[in-house]
Amino acid sequence: MDDRTDDRHGEHSRALALLVALAVRPSFERCCRHGDEFFDHFYATLADRIPGVGAKFHGVDMEKQNSLVREGIRRLLDYAELDGTVRPELERLGRLHAHENLDVQPDLYPAWVETLLEAVREFDPEYDPRLGDAWREAVRPGIELMTAVY
Ligand code: HEM
Repeated sequence: MDDRTDDRHGEHSRALALLVALAVRPSFERCCRHGDEFFDHFYATLADRIPGVGAKFHGVDMEKQNSLVREGIRRLLDYAELDGTVRPELERLGRLHAHENLDVQPDLYPAWVETLLEAVREFDPEYDPRLGDAWREAVRPGIELMTAVY
């Protein structure tokens, strides 16, 4: 089976793939033009929102973390665009966040998504609520993959 016809993606996901290519990815790239400023805002808000998260990042090189998470978000978008080749990387990320490692409980992920969207709203001048909904749909399949291995 070719990687682009991953069996987790049905025909209905093609609409999502298109939405990611046309709207969500361009939105993310507009945010990334702000570099660390965008990601610093995201992590500062995340630390405010989720008790204990600030401590998890204590001593972490945040510039390095920013570029790793930027690539991670790109992998979430690749997956929503039906690129099955990124699946092993998302599963690796899932195991890294799983109970035996970073121990990020699956019920924390919705707050991660909403915090990311707040940063997008702040930094993407073309943001509107419909784009926000497209973002939520876009990151869902990859996050499901990550949390499945918790
Ligand atoms: C509430 C949800 C999340 C929390 C609390 C969280 C927290 C963390 C923490 C504490 C680290 C380790 C930093 C270090 O010690 O160097 C980390 C690494 C990372 N996280 Fe998350 N994370 C969450 C969700 C996500 C999601 C949804 C993604 C998807 C893109 C992601 C992508 C990454 C990446 C790419 C790394 C670096 C991995 C590496 O070192 O190879 N995280 N995360």
